[in-house]
Amino acid sequence: MEKFIIALDQGTTSSRAVLFNKEGQIVGVAQQEFRQIFPKPGWVEHDPMEILNSQLAMLSKVIDDHHVTPKNIAAIGITNQRETTVVWNRKTGRPIFNAIVWQDKRTAPICEALKSQGLEEYVRDTTGLVIDSYFSATKIKWILDNVEGARALATKGELAFGTVDSWLIWNMTGGTVHATDYSNASRTMLYDIRRLAWNKKLLQALDIPGSVLPEVKPSASDFGIWKHGDVEIPIRGVAGDQQAALFGQACFTPGMAKNTYGTGCFMLLNTGTNIQQSKNGLITTIAWGLDGKVEYALEGSVFIAGAAIQWLRDSLHIIDQSKDSEYFAAKALGVDDVYVVPAFAGLGAPYWDMYARGAIFGLTRDTGKDHLIKATLESLAYQTKDILMAMEEDAGIKLSSLKVDGGASANNILMQFQADILATEVERPEVIESTAVGAAYLAGIHVGLWKKEDIVNHRKVQKVFNPAMEAARRDKLYRGWKKAVERCKGWAE
Ligand code: G3P
Repeated sequence: MEKFIIALDQGTTSSRAVLFNKEGQIVGVAQQEFRQIFPKPGWVEHDPMEILNSQLAMLSKVIDDHHVTPKNIAAIGITNQRETTVVWNRKTGRPIFNAIVWQDKRTAPICEALKSQGLEEYVRDTTGLVIDSYFSATKIKWILDNVEGARALATKGELAFGTVDSWLIWNMTGGTVHATDYSNASRTMLYDIRRLAWNKKLLQALDIPGSVLPEVKPSASDFGIWKHGDVEIPIRGVAGDQQAALFGQACFTPGMAKNTYGTGCFMLLNTGTNIQQSKNGLITTIAWGLDGKVEYALEGSVFIAGAAIQWLRDSLHIIDQSKDSEYFAAKALGVDDVYVVPAFAGLGAPYWDMYARGAIFGLTRDTGKDHLIKATLESLAYQTKDILMAMEEDAGIKLSSLKVDGGASANNILMQFQADILATEVERPEVIESTAVGAAYLAGIHVGLWKKEDIVNHRKVQKVFNPAMEAARRDKLYRGWKKAVERCKGWAE
């Protein structure tokens, strides 16, 4: 009988449902963008109901469009934008506030307070993270402190917190399962990645009652049942989108790395069962829990990548579609004077500056739209170089090839510039939806449809970009980038 797996990829800007056949090929995709809410500078919110409705609509659409018989769907895997925080009422099932998105900077003062309590080292040792508004913990505190009546309800055990995976699982299972997986838990800044338990000291420091927290499970396990009409479809795989992409790129052994160009840009290096602490501004995270063990990764998180291209489209209106950026950038090839630093949400790895803001440098009278578009694309590559250098330093290795994926990896100009500026080969697979691939396989492995090795067999390289830039030009360009970044730091302090 024909069997299918569906991956739900709930990202920062869109909800997608991706249909896989038994051979691991993508046979259908449904995608819908949803609203980004910016109530104040530096604040970013989503409506949790819009997240849910768009995701469920895409799930039904992919099934209907491809005439899939629901009972042939062996399992669903969920992968999600990480850290984004939803708090809802367990009785009514309604969110008590908008989702506070990972990019949101409103909790910088709470982070400062934690730092002044001397908790930086403790947080790093326990959770693998740096104290930053990026992670969920301070967002939960903000909601409990600022939404009327929230704290009282939380104390009575009537509120639930979840990252977006938990929010979807709760709703898809009719409020019967409140759970997440190890990879998502490790992004909250409340989870002890060594002991695999919620951390009491951090919960206390932030005055968050433990009763709001979800149960944490392996990434391939039983997350309940979604009922489609009278057919029961099991949810069997869950992972944060970046960890799912690491899995989908078959980076199973220590030393293997991938870089995903999504809303942000996230490079993860598999470190196996070893918890490696960074000396260069990276974070340590759980990659996944599978086959009775937990594996870890070093991560470089860049907050704005594809979102900068979206900014060209939606805020500056100088392109109609993201993919047009390639055409316009090509017209400015050879003009190197303009830099865009897209620190719209502060700077993540390796700088960790919540107060940095974006800027454009090197403008002259003849600077035009093409230059700006090219410089924006290049900012993705420069940020990637920042984190690759930190990673190579931490791991004591030189990466011979960088595996890339995500929407913007389809852009040839960007990928060539990436190879040039890194002086490293860049390898693009045929399927750049690694995030969905990872989630589908986690679910498929759990229901016995696939084995981990099947990913390796199914993965094909589509194109390799070889570095072609001479060293002197490369070094000069990168020095310019570093100078530009320095000038953006601390701007909003
Ligand atoms: O940590 C945030 C990350 O999970 C967002 O991913 O794909 O929406 O850029 P994406």
